[in-house]
Amino acid sequence: MKKLKIADGIHMLTMNVEDILFEGIWEIASGVTLNSYIVQGEKTAIIDGVIGWDGIPETLYRNLEEIGVDPKTIDYLIVNHMEPDHSGWISNFRKIKDDFTIICTDKAAKMVASFYGEDKIRVVKEGDTLDLGNGKVLSFHPVPNVHWPDTMYTYESGTKTLFSCDMFGAFGRMEVHCFDDELTPEEVDFFEAEGIRYYSNVMATFTPMVKKAIEKAKTLDIKVIAPGHGPVYRTNPQKIIDDYTRYTRYAEGAGKDEITILWGSMYGMTAKAVDFVEGILRREGVKYSKLEMPLESESEMVATVFKSAGIIIAAPTYEYKLFPPVAEALNEVGRKKITGKQAFRFGSYGWSGGAEKELSEIVERNKMNWSFIESVEFEGCPTTEDLNKVETGVLELINKMKDKVVE
Ligand SMILES: Cc1cc2nc3c(=O)[nH]c(=O)nc-3n(C[C@H](O)[C@H](O)[C@H](O)COP(=O)(O)O)c2cc1C
Ligand SMILES: [Fe+2]
Ligand SMILES: [Fe+2]
Repeated sequence: MKKLKIADGIHMLTMNVEDILFEGIWEIASGVTLNSYIVQGEKTAIIDGVIGWDGIPETLYRNLEEIGVDPKTIDYLIVNHMEPDHSGWISNFRKIKDDFTIICTDKAAKMVASFYGEDKIRVVKEGDTLDLGNGKVLSFHPVPNVHWPDTMYTYESGTKTLFSCDMFGAFGRMEVHCFDDELTPEEVDFFEAEGIRYYSNVMATFTPMVKKAIEKAKTLDIKVIAPGHGPVYRTNPQKIIDDYTRYTRYAEGAGKDEITILWGSMYGMTAKAVDFVEGILRREGVKYSKLEMPLESESEMVATVFKSAGIIIAAPTYEYKLFPPVAEALNEVGRKKITGKQAFRFGSYGWSGGAEKELSEIVERNKMNWSFIESVEFEGCPTTEDLNKVETGVLELINKMKDKVVE
C-alpha cells in the first residue's frame, strides 16, 4: 500500500490489485488501483477504503499510523459508493472502533445496512456539508447511476479537491507515479488506454448519467481530481474531464480514426476475406485492430470496439445463426450500450445462411442503432467477385466513418 500526501491534511492510500476478475468478469491484465483518501481537520474523515492484500484490518491501521492518523480518531467514514471494492472494509473497521458515523446518500444507506448491518448513518443530499475544522469543509454531491444508484462526489472546498469515486477513474496499476504531473508520456498513454478499457467495461452502460456527472463537476471549482481508481489529477484536472467527455462520445458512435475487425472463422473461408481486407486497410493507410473471437479477452474486445469509429464484423453462419463467439461479443457490446457505430459485415455460409438475420436481431434487441453498409455473404470460399464486393464495402465504411472521428 502506498501513502501519498495530496495537500496539508489530505492523504491518499493506494493499493494495486491484480489477479482478479474485476466485477467477477473483466480480465484486468494490467491491474487496477483502489484509492482511499483521508481528510484531517480537527476531526478526521476517511473517504472510501482499502484494507490491504491480506484483508487484515491491522494493515490499514498500520498504514494510517504511518501517515500520522490514529485510526481510533477517525470520526467519519464517507462512502461515496457502496460497491464492495470501496466499502468492503467497513466491517473490519468496526472491529477496532465503534463510534464513527457513516456518511452516504439515502440509496447507499439502505445498502450499507443490508450488506454490513450498519445503522449509524448520516444521510446526505446535494450540497450538504461537513465541517471538519481547521478549514477542511466537505460537501456532498450525488451523481446517481454513475455505476451504482448510490454514488456521490465528495468535495473539499479548502483545497478544491473532488473525490470523484468511480468517475474519472481508470484501470492500470500505479508503480511510483500517482500524480498526473509525474507521469511519463508512456504512462500518460498507458492510463488513457486503461481509462478507455475501464470506461467501456464498467461505465459505458451509464453514459447518460456520466454526462450529468461531468456537468455537475463543471459547477464545482476544481483544482484536484482524486478518483477511486487510477492517478490523481492535481495539475491538469481538465485533462480527465475532457477525456471522459470524449469517452461518452465513443459510447454514442464516435471513435478514434481506426477500424476494429471483429471476426471468427471455423474452416478459414471467412478468414480468407479477412486477409484480403487487411491488405485493403494497409493500402489505404487505415489503422486497424483484429480481434479473433473467442480468443480475445472480453475486456479487450469491448474496449477496442468502443474506441473505434468503424467496425467490420467478419463471421460465418453456424447452425442457422451468426458464428456464436462473434454473436456473443456483439451482445456484450450491445449490453454496454455502445451505440451508433458505423459497421460492415461479411461472412461465408454453406447451406442456406442465417447469420445476417441474427445480426439484425442482436442490433435490434440491444437498440444499438448501428449504421450498416449492405452485408456481403458468400457461399463457401470467396470468389474474386465476392472479394470485389467486400472491397467496395470496406471503402464505403472508411468513407462513412470519417464524420465520426474524434481523437
Ligand atoms: C457446426 C457448423 C454449423 C453450420 N451451420 C450452418 C448453417 O446453419 N447454415 C449455413 O448456411 N451454413 C452452415 N455451416 C456451414 C458454414 O457456414 C460454411 O462451412 C462456411 O464456409 C464456414 O465459414 P468459415 O470457414 O469462415 O467458418 C455450418 C458449418 C458448421 C461447421
Ligand atoms: Fe463501482
Ligand atoms: Fe469502483
